[in-house]
Amino acid sequence: MARESAHQLGTPISSLAGWVELLADRANDELGQRAVGHMAGDIERLERVAHRFERIGRPPQKEDLDVETILQRVTEYFRARVPTLSHTVQIALKTSGPLQVKGDPVLIEWAVEAVVKNAVDALAGRGGRILVEGERLPEGDIRVRVTDDGPGVPRDLRKRIFDAGFSTKERGWGIGLALARRIVAESHRGSLALLPSSRGARFEFIFPA
Ligand SMILES: Nc1ncnc2c1ncn2[C@@H]1O[C@H](COP(=O)(O)OP(=O)(O)OP(=O)(O)O)[C@@H](O)[C@H]1O
Ligand SMILES: [Mg+2]
Repeated sequence: MARESAHQLGTPISSLAGWVELLADRANDELGQRAVGHMAGDIERLERVAHRFERIGRPPQKEDLDVETILQRVTEYFRARVPTLSHTVQIALKTSGPLQVKGDPVLIEWAVEAVVKNAVDALAGRGGRILVEGERLPEGDIRVRVTDDGPGVPRDLRKRIFDAGFSTKERGWGIGLALARRIVAESHRGSLALLPSSRGARFEFIFPA
């Protein structure tokens, strides 16, 4: 079912890409060019997201990949979309790359994005800072931390946030963290946890060397 949906998306997406290419030659002012650029970026993203569904129910593809590239892409994506006027959300990235792991880049990006998205959600309407850090630990494992200075997770809810269907958001599905942990733990023998903190929230991924 998921794979069929992905397949069905393919035709309109490539058609859209064709129309945008056509527009690119005709957009003759700066705003038009910018809009075309954004549209092309969103189409590329739609393509990537459609590919995610193909992976459901299949063994993950293992390849040599650089986590730093994934962190760059995810932070850039959210930076372009967080509000910048009244409540500023700053997203900083600190890496000591390259951060090579064996894994499925589509799935890992999905997991990291789910956690960063939650940090963005936590700062909605108030503003704040998000720090994404990637580093290689002395034993060779890759550690990724996502820290925000939002309200944090109340102590009595900390055990439940990884449960599928658990959400405190009006429009939340409660899928993000459950999916992210499944991707990291089951498909990559790694771990994803909420670290104890008295302020804000800090999530930690470990990908084994
Ligand atoms: N950075 C964070 N700060 C505060 N609370 C958080 C943070 N990340 C997760 N949570 C809590 O964990 C819950 C579960 O997160 P999860 O991503 O699984 O679902 P969701 O964000 O509510 O919905 P969605 O399926 O759209 O992701 C959230 O509803 C929220 O209460
Ligand atoms: Mg979420």
